[in-house]
Amino acid sequence: MPLPQDFIATDFASWRAGVRPLLASEHAAASGPLSLPRPLMRLLESLACYRGDGRWELMFRLAWRTLHENRRLLEDHADADVHRAVRMERAVRRDVHKMHAYVRFRGTAENTFFAWFEPQHEILRRAAPFFVKRFPNMGWTIATPDGAAVWEKQTLQFIAAPDAASRPVADEHETLWRTYYRSICNVARLNPAMMQREMPQRYWRHLPEAVEIRALLREGRADFASRQREGDQQKLSLASAVQEALQRLPVAADGPEKCRRCDLWRHATQAVSGAGPERARIMLVGEQPGDEEDLRGEPFFGPAGRLLDTLIAEAQLERKTLFVTNAVKHFKWEPRGKRRLHKRPDVAEIDACNVWLQREIASVQPEVIVALGASALRALTGRSLSIQLARSEVLQHGESRVIASYHPSAILRAPEQRAAQMRAHIIEDLRRAGTEVGQ
Ligand code: URA
Repeated sequence: MPLPQDFIATDFASWRAGVRPLLASEHAAASGPLSLPRPLMRLLESLACYRGDGRWELMFRLAWRTLHENRRLLEDHADADVHRAVRMERAVRRDVHKMHAYVRFRGTAENTFFAWFEPQHEILRRAAPFFVKRFPNMGWTIATPDGAAVWEKQTLQFIAAPDAASRPVADEHETLWRTYYRSICNVARLNPAMMQREMPQRYWRHLPEAVEIRALLREGRADFASRQREGDQQKLSLASAVQEALQRLPVAADGPEKCRRCDLWRHATQAVSGAGPERARIMLVGEQPGDEEDLRGEPFFGPAGRLLDTLIAEAQLERKTLFVTNAVKHFKWEPRGKRRLHKRPDVAEIDACNVWLQREIASVQPEVIVALGASALRALTGRSLSIQLARSEVLQHGESRVIASYHPSAILRAPEQRAAQMRAHIIEDLRRAGTEVGQ
């Protein structure tokens, strides 16, 4: 059954209101709720954000066919409608991830912050809650050609798009940010082709550091050493102001290896970043590197890693398909004789390190993230939750579903019966992650 020619929808709510009588006239009472499976409702909400021809028709076809032909239509990935819908949903999710990573705020005279962003799809309402969580204590507006999200520290509102003339042009944070970016950016490591692939012109145009990147690429690598010396001087005098600016601005410049946001780097051999495929569908987040990981530079390499490998295999997943990382990138320890004994990172350290985890998430764009232990859960939710309770909650981080689980090391410390129980729970949680992505 096709949609009538004169059918009009502007968003998910108007589509739903419009199609209800069409679907229900064949099915149930026109005023009653549409009983569509939840995964389909979630998919339809995503498809409503897709900018492009045919989305309303496709959504209607999926709903109609689910009600009248096959209640489990979504599971049929060979079906042309399902296949197209999954591709569209993925494009929307990617766009949301990009918005999370590339929005840059500018200060305004009223002491609030403003960002202009041009997403490919109509995702403002989906993407905005992430910024509420990330910047709850500053007033901000994120404007797009489709409308603007306004956060006044208590309420999130959506209003019409402001005109171009009312957008702030630059501010002191931006000048500071660009100077800092120049001094830390290692031009030898810039990969313009990859950056362009990751950041199409639409995003690129509005990044303050893009001007610097272009200039740095033109200047080439020849003067990098002298610029770095100059940069060291600048960095010293800028340090405290930059620290403050960094709290506000999403960081996209250097990696955790030069991070000084907390003191853990002082006693660690190196920062240990995540490892795995660039676009893994599942990400596992642990707490922090241990003694062996610190020396080797790879996450989950020592005893906890070997145990994790067994659990992954029992959950019928393959480690090489997973992106494995930690909430904190430096090893925190205390001496015990000749040994370096693991010490739990505190909340301030987890929060200080969060920019690096966020950057990994923005780049990998996992569909599901498994939080292994309380530190990981804190990093992903900003709250200190009990794992036992959080395991039964539906948690979300931006566009990624979060599954809370225990840390593998907890099995090693627990009494026998509890250890067996935890082990079974971790395997079950990893399996749930696999099922979510159809593995
Ligand atoms: N424990 C973790 O949480 N991460 C590691 O990488 C190793 C041990």
